[in-house]
This record gives sequence, structure tokens and C-alpha cells, in this order.
Amino acid sequence: MSGLTVRPARLDDADAINAVYNPFIRDTVITFETVEHTVDQRRAWLQARDGDARYPVLVAERPDGTICGFASANPFDPRAGYASSVKTSVFVEPACHGLGAGTALYNALFEALDGAELHRAYGLVAAPNPASAALHKRFGFAHVATLSEVGRKFGRFIDVIWFEKRLS
Ligand SMILES: CC(C)(COP(=O)(O)OP(=O)(O)OC[C@H]1O[C@@H](n2cnc3c(N)ncnc32)[C@H](O)[C@@H]1OP(=O)(O)O)[C@@H](O)C(=O)NCCC(=O)NCCS
Repeated sequence: MSGLTVRPARLDDADAINAVYNPFIRDTVITFETVEHTVDQRRAWLQARDGDARYPVLVAERPDGTICGFASANPFDPRAGYASSVKTSVFVEPACHGLGAGTALYNALFEALDGAELHRAYGLVAAPNPASAALHKRFGFAHVATLSEVGRKFGRFIDVIWFEKRLS
């Protein structure tokens, strides 16, 4: 997508990040969250990551300053033994799908993770999601598991595919 800038998220991006993410909570099974994030929650989420090289948050900004997507790396699990693994995710607003924003965000995310002394990254994809599957495979993730009907949202059970990427 021409003119897109990917940069680290700032605290004042909280509202714009929610504007991208909350519709996926409200309308889709792509995320299993069911309650939309408030601006305060999103600010706290950004603050908790600030300065930790393992958990970057990046936004894709149009020339007019509006945000069309974001990517993040998140703790795999709070238990200390999992600290060398992260879960990565990327969300782009539907009007921008298929235009390279997801690729630009993941490029920048894995550049940011380079040197963070991580060993594995995981992408958890509610199936089917061909765009997300294509993106993860393009970035070197391998399909390592399918959890059958592990999730339930809007009254139906949903499979989740685990993608794994070796970082070091
Ligand atoms: C998944 C998502 C981030 C991809 O971002 P995007 O900007 O649309 O994707 P890009 O234009 O960068 O394309 C990335 C790859 O996906 C492929 N792709 C994009 N849309 C596709 C579609 N609808 N079906 C199949 N493949 C698709 C592209 O061809 C490209 O693959 P290639 O490099 O092998 O050609 C975006 O579609 C999105 O936000 N979807 C909703 C949220 C979501 O599913 N997030 C992931 C949660 S696990």
C-alpha cells in the first residue's frame, strides 16, 4: 500500500488501535474476546509493554495520520519458563485488506524482535482464515497443530491452528 508508515505505537494510539480491533471482537470469530476494549485498558496494555524489546506494538499509519492496522508480540504464558516464546498477532481494518499492510506490519514486527533473545513465535489462527494462514506461512511459520473445536463464540465451536516460527 503506497504511503504507509509502520512505526512503534504511542499511548495516544490507544483509541485508533481499538477502532481497528474492537469490530473484530464484536462481529467476528477471528478473536475469541467478547468484550470490547476501553481506551483505558488499551493504554494500560501499551504501557505494560513499553520498553520491553520482547513485546513491541507497531501501527501502520496512512499519510493523513490515520491508523489502518497494528501488530504486536505478546507473552506466550505468564509462567517464567515460557519467557523465550511470544505470541504474535496482526490486525488490519477490512478496507485495507489485501494491500500489503499486514505484510508491512509483520516485516517491522520481526525486525523489532530481532535481537530480543526470543526462541519461538506462535500465531494462533481461528480457522478458516486463509489470509492469516498465507501471511504466517510467508513469514516462515509452520502449521504445527490444529486444536479441534477448542473455541466457542456466537454459539458455535471453532478450530484453532497453531503456527510456529523459529526465531533462533
Ligand atoms: C490477516 C491480515 C492481517 C493480512 O493482512 P493484509 O494486509 O490483508 O495482507 P497482505 O496484503 O499483506 O497479504 C499477506 C498475504 O496474505 C494473502 N492474502 C491476503 N488476503 C487474502 C485472502 N482473502 N485469501 C487468501 N490469501 C490472502 C496475500 O496474497 C499475501 O500472501 P502472499 O504474500 O503469499 O501473496 C488481514 O487480512 C486481517 O487483518 N484480517 C483480519 C484479522 C486477522 O485475521 N488477523 C490475524 C489474526 S491470527
